[in-house]
Amino acid sequence: MTRVLSVTSEATPLVKTGGLADVAGALPGALAGHGVGMRTLLPGYPAVTAELRKPKTCAEWPDCFGGPARLLAEQVAGLDLLVLDAPHLYARGAGLYLDETGRDWPDNPERFAALSWVGAEIANGALPDWSPALVHAHDWQGGLAPYYIARSPAAGKVRAVQTIHNIAFQGLAPAARLSALRLDPADFKPDNLEYWGKISALKAGLIHADWITTVSPTYAEELLTPEFGMGLEGVLLGRRAQFSGILNGIDMDMWSPDKDPHIIPYNKPRGKAANKAALRAEFDLPKADGPLCVVISRLTAQKGLDLLLEALPALLERGGQLVLLGTGDAALEAAFRMAAEHPDVAVRIGYDEWLAHRMIAGGDAILVPSRFEPCGLTQLYGLRYGTLPVVALTGGLADTVIPASPATLAGKVVATGLQFNPVTALALSNALARLCALYHQRDLWHRISRNAMAHPVGWEHSAESYAQLYKGVLGQTT
Ligand code: ADP
Ligand code: GLC
Repeated sequence: MTRVLSVTSEATPLVKTGGLADVAGALPGALAGHGVGMRTLLPGYPAVTAELRKPKTCAEWPDCFGGPARLLAEQVAGLDLLVLDAPHLYARGAGLYLDETGRDWPDNPERFAALSWVGAEIANGALPDWSPALVHAHDWQGGLAPYYIARSPAAGKVRAVQTIHNIAFQGLAPAARLSALRLDPADFKPDNLEYWGKISALKAGLIHADWITTVSPTYAEELLTPEFGMGLEGVLLGRRAQFSGILNGIDMDMWSPDKDPHIIPYNKPRGKAANKAALRAEFDLPKADGPLCVVISRLTAQKGLDLLLEALPALLERGGQLVLLGTGDAALEAAFRMAAEHPDVAVRIGYDEWLAHRMIAGGDAILVPSRFEPCGLTQLYGLRYGTLPVVALTGGLADTVIPASPATLAGKVVATGLQFNPVTALALSNALARLCALYHQRDLWHRISRNAMAHPVGWEHSAESYAQLYKGVLGQTT
């Protein structure tokens, strides 16, 4: 068994704000069959410590970035958890990263430096009975772990992999925090921690990890360009020989149209149609001639939903309908609330995991018009439930959907959804018009829908890729 410590700020089913949680929560189980024993280091947020029954205290630090901390170990929901119980950092309400007013917690740099530092402590033998051969750090919140390891006795012995789930979040902190974050001022240089006068936790991970991954091959290529690299393209170009993209998968048990306890199972008569009727009823939507489209998303500029607001007439004029579930930017929330005044549009502002299942099962199509999308998971749920994805041609969306085109519809139809490019309201309008036309070609629609449901979206292939990557990084190439 290859021993790996995953350092992550969220993991399903315990704490989630986005896809990172799904990936961090699914990877350990997916890797177990590939000779990898993964333990997961998580912050002791109230939602996490509340799940612990009889945890074992396996390490303690009297001063962990401003207060005492303990490391608690327990198996929870199939995860071999190590929980950093540090009340001064994590025992608070509101969000994982945001306070009740929606602003970043002012001590976020310390909160996740502590997590990363404890990851490095574990790499240095802090646990009496277990130590990792490799530390897998996720996003900026884990980014300082490869740095601390590189500056510790474990350097060169314990390997580090850094995964970028989203380069838009870089973990920047003022230079004045260097000593509070236990960083060597000598490392505050452009070829190390420094990023335009600030400390960058993500850059630290990119510089010091033995290997860097991101969550799709296309995003890996995009990240090397100024358009997508968000200022870190130069760093990544410098490390392109140790940089690759591995697609995310989804949990095939949790997202299973035949066994999903939150929907009318598809193996019942008229499965999909029954879910659609139920969804319409739930949102008081009338019957309609066009496709029922769904969106489940954070409402941020990344997700391109402002484009959808502009393109919506193209769907509604053709008898289509929209149900949107999301939360985020106040302006987008308000704009969608307004849009919901149309009888064929329903909007739920909030976060609701089970409603997401009912929507995926009840929709004809799922819309993902992202400006950039490292991987994206909702289009994968759509594929699995035969809910045709309509996606922008970017990142993981480009890698997971086979777009309807003359080539993919000719002969043996291989298309699984629709794509549009460039990522503009006009191109999205055109895609929605194509979707509505396709909806009336019932045989073709069902063919594409069957293709979608047969497309592999689980973890099997990617788990194998991660296992091979770990072996390669550890110098055990097979
Ligand atoms: P990102 O991580 O950028 O938000 P992903 O598509 O990778 O995008 O993952 C988003 C995850 O969060 C999916 O599992 C999606 O179903 C879920 N999600 C997003 N918003 C909501 C919401 N408002 N209610 C329920 N689930 C949501
Ligand atoms: C990020 C990305 C999303 C990806 C997820 C999990 O939040 O925005 O595209 O699927 O991480 O890797």
